Amino acid sequence: MLFSASALLAAAAFVGEAAAHGYVPFIRINGTTLPGWDVTKDGYTNPQPLRIVRATKADSGFVSNPTSGEITCSIGNSKLPPGPITASVAAGGTVTAVWNTWPTGHYGPIIDYIAKCPSSGCSSWKADSGSPWIKIGQKTYNGEWPSDTLAKNGFTHDIKIPKNLASGDYVRTPSSLI
Ligand SMILES: *[C@@H]1O[C@H](CO)[C@@H](O)[C@H](O)[C@H]1NC(C)=O
Repeated sequence: MLFSASALLAAAAFVGEAAAHGYVPFIRINGTTLPGWDVTKDGYTNPQPLRIVRATKADSGFVSNPTSGEITCSIGNSKLPPGPITASVAAGGTVTAVWNTWPTGHYGPIIDYIAKCPSSGCSSWKADSGSPWIKIGQKTYNGEWPSDTLAKNGFTHDIKIPKNLASGDYVRTPSSLI
């Protein structure tokens, strides 16, 4: 996801969500639903549509090597958006990722990371080298695995944007370790 912040505002650029068992066709901010990446259409549309969620393959499996660059944006972290795109969110606000589906029984925590994009912007940056990522949230086992909570909660996952986040453009990714 791609996003940017002022004293009050953060805007978001969303990188591809891990898409082992589902993908993220929608993002919700302030009650507004924005198109994410729809693997059934967007990957087959020419020219590539401009989306705040980065392209994911129809079935990208899982990233088996956590030290690979693919961990930042799923397998095939290669398709950057065709142009600049961000969505704005207030610092302290919530961004909801809406998956198309997710099976229960694929247990794991869900951990949220963001990375501040370089001055050249998020759209030309893969965020897959160095250590730009910071953890802004984690959901761990609490009588139920967060992966199951997501599956039972309309396939949604809320990401809280820190109140004290510096202004700017960011990419963010939730990781589910299963
Ligand atoms: C969400 O609300 C903030 C603050 O009110 C606004 O600046 C931002 O543009 C809104 N974002 C979307 C995607 O509607």
